[in-house]
Amino acid sequence: SPQSAGSAQTYSLVVVSNRLPVDFEVADDGTESWRTSPGGLVTALEPLMRSSDGVWVGWPGVADRTFGPFVNDGISIAPVRLSAADLEDYYEGFSNDTIWPLYHDVIAPPSFHREWWEAYVRVNRRFAEEAAAAASPGATVWVHDYQLQLVPRMLREARPDLVIGFFNHIPFPPDGIYAQLPWRKQILDGLLGADLIGFQRAADAGNFSRAVRRLYGYPTRGVAIDVPGHNGVHRRVIAKHFPISIDARSYEELARRPEVQERARQIREDLGNPKTILLGVDRLDYTKGILHRIKAFGELLEDGSVSVEDVTLVQVASPSRERVGPYIALRDEIELAVGRLNGDYSTISHTAISYHHHGYPREEMVALYLAADVMLVTALRDGMNLVAKEYVAVRFDRDGVLVLSEFAGAADELKQAVLINPHDIDGLKAAILRAIAMPRQERLRRMRALRRKVFDNDVAAWSASFLRTLTEGAAVRPGIPDPLAA
Ligand code: F6P
Repeated sequence: SPQSAGSAQTYSLVVVSNRLPVDFEVADDGTESWRTSPGGLVTALEPLMRSSDGVWVGWPGVADRTFGPFVNDGISIAPVRLSAADLEDYYEGFSNDTIWPLYHDVIAPPSFHREWWEAYVRVNRRFAEEAAAAASPGATVWVHDYQLQLVPRMLREARPDLVIGFFNHIPFPPDGIYAQLPWRKQILDGLLGADLIGFQRAADAGNFSRAVRRLYGYPTRGVAIDVPGHNGVHRRVIAKHFPISIDARSYEELARRPEVQERARQIREDLGNPKTILLGVDRLDYTKGILHRIKAFGELLEDGSVSVEDVTLVQVASPSRERVGPYIALRDEIELAVGRLNGDYSTISHTAISYHHHGYPREEMVALYLAADVMLVTALRDGMNLVAKEYVAVRFDRDGVLVLSEFAGAADELKQAVLINPHDIDGLKAAILRAIAMPRQERLRRMRALRRKVFDNDVAAWSASFLRTLTEGAAVRPGIPDPLAA
């Protein structure tokens, strides 16, 4: 349980991520409130934090505001202050306009700016200091994602007593791409400060180990990397894949609620009761392949393979990183494409694409999943894609077809989905038609297998497996408390 060290509380489990599970929001009329943050990371970590008495260190989603520690929905929160300049250079700049595109196959060109790098170092140091202040002696600190890759090394230097884990929620690129990064060696060194570095896919862990071998020449064997320490003693770092998941049971529980099922029926009716509802749910991001999806659907309408009376595409694109150049441009492109298509094909009673630039509460998302006959996940590159797993978890009726990009990490596990290459528009069109026409027996068979995967490997299993590997690895060191034995 939390211990008091001087005035500030300290904890035996500290989770550090750029974004907190709640964002502070000021409405146009000045009303202030806390809202659940978007994205897969929060979905994945919330259950762990609610069941352990750790603390979550992160940014509250607003610039230049200082908040003291507080408890939200059973989770202890320690907010980190970021200035407007930090946000511009560390968050919008280095994190989301350098690392993000670089790690996602350079789908958008990464920008390299030295001032952004300096801000990244400065802000990573602040997160490391806050985490160190919150950690009791021998605590486990679990650092998350690409915004904080320098934190493990900084923490180790400040607090050699800590057990340090890092999990990368996004892909780790192959060496030919990673090598472009002017600070490629500093980032690797930052990560190697951890005892355990987790990745989504085996391929990501392999890419990381290869980069370490090529840029540092450290010996690697399987998942182990031997990092030379002081006085010739090696420190063993493990780089391994731990595919992230969701709290599948809680999604199914929501889906079984009568009011959510009623809402799903209502959605179908409001859409004019089409035979087939196709659904896309994404943060508005160029990695998600939203334009490829719209193009394929548009061609199906154009060549008469489907009609708006029979088939509607519902596309939820939740607002994301709205001040970053490529995101601003992408929104314009998507909305132009949606507007054109609707102008060409919608009728007064039937809309081709029902497009929503909003984030929705979880209940509404679950109702949408229930209403959708076909879920389209067409990412060009995605660390995991939890939307795919959410759709599967919700379908307790075992119906519904998941069309899934082979470039999403989820494709490594969800093999019974209809797997597609989103760059192959003809292939994507054929997959959509196949999903629409799939016989019920085949739908049930596939969904049953998908559900087994998602329920057997839920997010509790994911975090337990990561933390077990982390603490077992560190068990050679004395005095390390078990963070799961709260
Ligand atoms: O998992 C990828 C990720 O970037 C998380 O780190 C992040 O919290 C989420 O997607 C949403 O992005 P952002 O925090 O930039 O809004």
